[in-house]
Order: sequence, then structure tokens, then C-alpha cells
Amino acid sequence: MVLKTAHYTQGAAFECEKHQVFAREWLPIAVREQLAQPGQYVSAAPGGWPMLAACGADGVLRAFRNLCRHRDLQLARQDAGNCEKFHCRHHGWTYDLTGTLVDAPAAAAPPGAMSQQRLLALGLQPWGALILVNWQAHAAPIAGVADTLWTAGKSQVGARMVDAACNWKTLLELLLPGEEVSWLWPLLVLRREQDVTIVDRIIPRVPMRTRLIRHIYAGEAARHAVQPALAVLDRLKDEAQQLQAARAQGVPAERSHPHVAELHARLAAAYAQAGAS
Ligand code: FES
Repeated sequence: MVLKTAHYTQGAAFECEKHQVFAREWLPIAVREQLAQPGQYVSAAPGGWPMLAACGADGVLRAFRNLCRHRDLQLARQDAGNCEKFHCRHHGWTYDLTGTLVDAPAAAAPPGAMSQQRLLALGLQPWGALILVNWQAHAAPIAGVADTLWTAGKSQVGARMVDAACNWKTLLELLLPGEEVSWLWPLLVLRREQDVTIVDRIIPRVPMRTRLIRHIYAGEAARHAVQPALAVLDRLKDEAQQLQAARAQGVPAERSHPHVAELHARLAAAYAQAGAS
């Protein structure tokens, strides 16, 4: 199946991907450095699913739906931060880093014991330098070992985020080709360029808006390569937006690279499973 223009431009395809892909697969929410200390947390909503991951006071990593149990409204509002508790700004429910409700104003107090109210858990799996989460709390772990060779002996020396006005698949099609590229379906791409490893996390936000967060791993000798690898994101964003315009005009994707062909095959299967075309 060749993906059509509508798959890159319309909300119906994104809605299908939201349920068939992003609600089921392991998605990269952070690199380990972002959750190394108690109190550190990150939040994101890949595909529209609000997710939150935090390092507890006990040093244990946990992930939750980023939705307050009182009225299912967004809890953490920052992309990343450091806190001892999550305080819901709407009516004042407060959770500790294990996700347990620990305080609520009398006017909005839950009927039973507060300890019975907990944020809904997500699956969480450390994977090499990455922290992966899954909307399904009991999702099967990823088989096989992580590509730790890609970041072993290196440390994160730079990171940058860009937002592009394009569909997530358009951006991914630009990142997947190349020889020293490792791809964890659907949203994680690792690329080795000499002594530098580039970790790209893709966050589909809405059908035509996609966030890319790039982390650079390098040893001491390769630090000169950090800035070019981050600066190139401006050009990549422009290319993605131009490619998006081409897709919207019906220009099909170049599928000769095995990763791109696999991306299309997986999506075709997802659309078929949902009864979409
Ligand atoms: S929605 Fe969070 S306290 Fe009401």
C-alpha cells in the first residue's frame, strides 16, 4: 500500500494512528539524564495521549497518565521540571511522586480514603539511554536488548527541540534513510556520525504539527561536532515543511530505503486493522 495524501494531511489518519499505534507502542519520553534525580519529571502528549514520568523520592521511575483523577484534567503543565508533589491547579488535588493522592481541599475532597485515589499508571521501560513509556500499563516489554552500543562510553552533551508544521511521518521519512541508523518503531531514531550519536525523539502533537527533540551523545574528543548536529535542525525543519507541502500536493514518498518501506508497511497494517484505508 502506498500512503496517500490524506494520510499526511487529515485528522482521520492521525486518529487511527493515535489508537492503533501511539496507544499501543513503546514511545520515548525522556533520556535517562532527565530522570536521574528524585523529583525530576517530564511530560508530553505523543499522539494526543497525555503522559507523565517521574523519578520518585525512592529513586524509582514511574509513569502515569497526566490526568488528575478528580475531573480528568491535565495535571503537570511543564514539559520538564523538578518537584516533590504534583499539585492540580484546577481544584487543588495533590499527588506524591508515586501517584498517590495525598491532599485535597475539603470542598473538593474525594468520597473515600485519599490513598485509594491514584494516578493511572503507564508502562515504563528503560532502554539503553532512553526511558520508554507505553499507554498500556501492562504492555509486553520490548524483546531484545537495547542498542546501548550507540551511547555507551558517551554522555549527553547537548539537546535541542524544534517544532515543525508537518505530519510526523513526513519528518520521520527524512530521518530514517542513512547507513548508520537504528530505528525503534515508531518514534525513536538513533544515528551515528563518526564519534557522535544523535538520538531523535519525535512527538506527534496534532496532524500537522510535530516536535523533534534531539539529544547529542559524544565523548570528550568529539565535542566540536555538537553544535553542527544541533544547528542542522533549522534546515531539517525547513526540509520537512517543504516535503509536507509536496505530500499535500500528492507527491508520494520515496520508499526505496528499507526503513521507510517498513514504516509504510506497518502503517498500512494499522490502517487495515482499524478498517481505514
Ligand atoms: S481536576 Fe484536578 S483537582 Fe479537579
